[in-house]
Amino acid sequence: MTLTTKAAVLTAPGKPFEIVELDLDEPREGEVLIKYTAAGLCHSDLHLTDGDLPPRYPIVGGHEGSGIIEAVGPGVTKVQPGDHVVCSFIPNCGTCRYCSTGRQNLCDMGATILEGSMPDGTFRFHSGKDDFGAMCMLGTFSERATISQHSVVKVDDWLPLDKAVLVGCGVPSGWGTSVYAGGVRAGDTVVIYGIGGLGINAVQGAVSAGAKYVVVVDPVAMKRDAALKFGATHAFADAQEAATKVNELTWGQGADQALILVGTVDEEVVSNATAVVGKGGTVVITGLADPAKLTVHVSGTDLTLNQKTIKGSLFGSANPQYDIVKLLRLYDQGQLKLDELVTTTYTLDQVNEGYQDLRDGKNLRGVIIHGE
Ligand SMILES: NC(=O)c1ccc[n+]([C@@H]2O[C@H](COP(=O)([O-])OP(=O)(O)OC[C@H]3O[C@@H](n4cnc5c(N)ncnc54)[C@H](O)[C@@H]3O)[C@@H](O)[C@H]2O)c1
Ligand SMILES: [Zn+2]
Ligand SMILES: [Zn+2]
Repeated sequence: MTLTTKAAVLTAPGKPFEIVELDLDEPREGEVLIKYTAAGLCHSDLHLTDGDLPPRYPIVGGHEGSGIIEAVGPGVTKVQPGDHVVCSFIPNCGTCRYCSTGRQNLCDMGATILEGSMPDGTFRFHSGKDDFGAMCMLGTFSERATISQHSVVKVDDWLPLDKAVLVGCGVPSGWGTSVYAGGVRAGDTVVIYGIGGLGINAVQGAVSAGAKYVVVVDPVAMKRDAALKFGATHAFADAQEAATKVNELTWGQGADQALILVGTVDEEVVSNATAVVGKGGTVVITGLADPAKLTVHVSGTDLTLNQKTIKGSLFGSANPQYDIVKLLRLYDQGQLKLDELVTTTYTLDQVNEGYQDLRDGKNLRGVIIHGE
């Protein structure tokens, strides 16, 4: 039996999402049929729209998702129909070299996340003779999808899926940038560049780790106000003003961490971040840009003499299977804000409107609520 689903797809770089009806295959061995309940509007899908990140077209957008399992294929042991799940934009197979060494965010099964195919190269969305990929093997801008059991994490069924959805990408990617990749510790001074759906969670992570000063930089006033409400201690529109303040706050020692979560990373923000950390400091690059662009141009001698580290981080260097559950339990205990992250909700048909609001600096996070 072939199912059908409404989905928002990209067919070429520079073109907005189009809403189309697609055929959907039933789950095969190790796969599940999911009815998505909500999908977050992360900036990474905007990189696909803008052609910064080149996927295989056509592709169903969306990689931040929550939903309910409707059916399972043969051999599925992780979930059963009716289970509430949050999707992980990186699958975790549990047995590859990376999963088995506590680095599920680097799971080998994630090799096709931009290709949008299953690991064996086949597709589950179709229209006529055309195969449609699924962003990050998920395609959450669809009412339903057939995905790997390794892409879902079962969550407590009393949690609101329209908020829990953000723990599929933005929350762990931001929170983990501070806590795991940055290694923020009590008493540290942290500078965070870019307060969007990720950066605001880097603020939450730095605050929960006990940072003394959390200094944020974002040109948009609403983002700076939000950061201060989430516990940042100082907020600036301009990186130089932030650097002057950090110098004053640390008596010239510099920051311990500089975390880059801007919409599109460039040479300037990487250079500013590298300059703002002091001896032994760590710069984390979590934001993306066109992979062909060289964005790191700093003095190697500065790194050597001051023993600075510049590193990248995927999924906040977190383990999806463990950290999605952990972060949701922090929310349940009132120790992590999720409700306050959702600025506006949209229908699937309004996906382009939602992304325009993101471009216009109106949203911390926009969320699509899928209909019945
Ligand atoms: N590494 C990962 O695992 C991972 C996961 C998800 C998203 N991302 C990437 O992280 C980045 C952030 O995603 P998001 O959804 O939070 O985006 P967003 O659009 O919600 O937020 C980006 C913020 O950066 C601000 N900004 C832009 N230029 C700036 C600058 N020069 N200095 C300071 N602030 C600046 C914007 O005003 C905005 O508030 C994107 O590049 C996204 O693709 C990475
Ligand atoms: Zn994302
Ligand atoms: Zn793996």
